[in-house]
Amino acid sequence: MNRALVVLAKSINIVMVKRISLMAFGLLISLSASANAHGDHYGRGETLYQAHCAPCHGIDGDGNGPAGKGLNPSPANLLDAMQQNIISDEYLMWTIREGGRNVHTDMPSFEDNGEIDQNDAKEIIKYLRHAFE
Ligand code: HEC
Repeated sequence: MNRALVVLAKSINIVMVKRISLMAFGLLISLSASANAHGDHYGRGETLYQAHCAPCHGIDGDGNGPAGKGLNPSPANLLDAMQQNIISDEYLMWTIREGGRNVHTDMPSFEDNGEIDQNDAKEIIKYLRHAFE
């Protein structure tokens, strides 16, 4: 190989090594950023879900919570519903606000009972998308 080519090859190598370490560094940063975002972001929705939804829909969303036993119809399997990805945020919001008062199920209307306002409902929806999809 002539000299010029060797020098060229070496400098390309250095550039690539730099690129790769930059990429690895960037990946680390974004991983730790999303870990943080996770903690802050879904914590509230998760707590709300566990307090207000899990008793019927189950911690895992499978519809088998202890407070749902014997209800007819039984609580929906949210895990399945979210995985099929057919439920819009608007529909989730509506369901949480209205509960079963229009469709004659035992799901409480969280608007009526005042336990979950719109902002809290949004946090729960974010959590559902994160945890069950
Ligand atoms: C007292 C028990 C109970 C509680 C508490 C409850 N649900 Fe429900 N939920 C039900 C029942 C019963 C249904 C009706 C299932 C059906 O129509 O087959 C239902 C239906 C739903 C549906 C509709 C699913 C579909 O496919 O149409 C969604 C979404 C839902 N619940 C979300 C929630 C969320 C989010 C919370 C907490 C904020 C919650 N539920 C709290 C009992 C409950």
